[in-house]
Amino acid sequence: MEIGKEIIVKVERFNNEGDGVCLYNNFVIFVKAALINEEIKIRIIDKKKNYAVGEIVEILIPSESRKIPLCPYYNTCGGCGLMHMDQNMQLELKKEKIKSIFKKICKIDVDIKEVCAYNNLYYRNKITLRVEGNKIGYYKEKTNELVDITECLLCDKRINEILHEIREFINYYSSHKISEVMIRTAKDETMVYIDNINKRWLNKFIEKLSNVNSIYVGDDLVYGIDSINQKINGLVFDMSPKSFFQVNLETASKLYEYALKDVENQNITVDLYSGTGTIAISLAKKSRRVIAIESNKNAVKDAKNNMLLNGIDNIEFKGGKVEDLIKQLKDLNIDTLVLDPPRTGSDKLSLKMLLKIKPKNIVYISCNPVTLAKDYNILKEEYQIKEIKGFDMFPNTHHVETVMILEKKDV
Ligand SMILES: C[S@@+](CC[C@H](N)C(=O)[O-])C[C@H]1O[C@@H](n2cnc3c(N)ncnc32)[C@H](O)[C@@H]1O
Repeated sequence: MEIGKEIIVKVERFNNEGDGVCLYNNFVIFVKAALINEEIKIRIIDKKKNYAVGEIVEILIPSESRKIPLCPYYNTCGGCGLMHMDQNMQLELKKEKIKSIFKKICKIDVDIKEVCAYNNLYYRNKITLRVEGNKIGYYKEKTNELVDITECLLCDKRINEILHEIREFINYYSSHKISEVMIRTAKDETMVYIDNINKRWLNKFIEKLSNVNSIYVGDDLVYGIDSINQKINGLVFDMSPKSFFQVNLETASKLYEYALKDVENQNITVDLYSGTGTIAISLAKKSRRVIAIESNKNAVKDAKNNMLLNGIDNIEFKGGKVEDLIKQLKDLNIDTLVLDPPRTGSDKLSLKMLLKIKPKNIVYISCNPVTLAKDYNILKEEYQIKEIKGFDMFPNTHHVETVMILEKKDV
């Protein structure tokens, strides 16, 4: 099968990134934007020892789930790589992705009933964009090639309005010196962070963004309030520019409800990788004492402030890495421990320590099923899966959030 050859194939399944997987004389070919059961004519564009890559030349029998992507940058940016399929197919793909990852890494069949979705477009409350001259946008997937965008359909509409203003600014003041922009929205407030600016144009920038509530240049607040206020599940959270906050508020709200649904009247609960304290503060009314660990100093500061904002006083926020501080939990009798680590997952020593600490229940929230499954492989020595559910936190992308509720094996 030489490069450039054109063949007709049927799409058998998806890989974890949502590419179509086809077989030709039992040889695997990956094809971007091809849907299950479609019959397609493809051209081979790359060939390796065990697989080839093809591109669609013509769709001969299209899937009923095929959609025309709404985003004008769909073909260049890669940020909304699943926009060519309807959401039902996206949810099915994400469910199968979690199942196949657990099968491969843990050798088990997980009983995952569904991946829930609550929105599809305009859901992101934060984006980070690159700026080069008068261009502003995302880097094309796996490249340093900037795709100049006027709007992103995954973002809150207010983000696109602010993007429009910033675009006009960088076009007019070409010696601006900005190379990175972060735009964040909360229920009633908005925030902009830029890494740098030509001091001559700072006042013009602030003037241009007169509707924004908080503007930072690097670590310096140059206009308005130092943090913006988000509301979720009846609680309020202030967040500064460098603190993590879930990007899809509607879905995060349902995820938190599900993750903590079995936690009631507990004595000691723990929130590892606690960010601005969303989970710890949600636990505070369900538990006598809460301990939270987070390494980002800004997030810990926000979290302590958020505890006071919500009229709560039973959480100990510990600043530092989980792997350094987890031994402090050794002699506690923990009822529920929640962990929500970054994409890289938790680390082996912390997980081994958890096996010694033995919380009665563990709730693991993850944005990466691969590290979730690898970490479960360690935890499974003492814990079994009680429930597992997916949440479509990032519709139109191949990413999926998973909540895994674990119970001790001997219970
Ligand atoms: C996915 S976020 C979860 C935040 C929070 N649970 C929420 O829902 O908003 C992961 C958090 O882990 C923090 N983090 C990353 N590595 C860490 C480590 N080794 N120890 C403690 N916190 C860490 C990050 O700063 C981030 O706030």
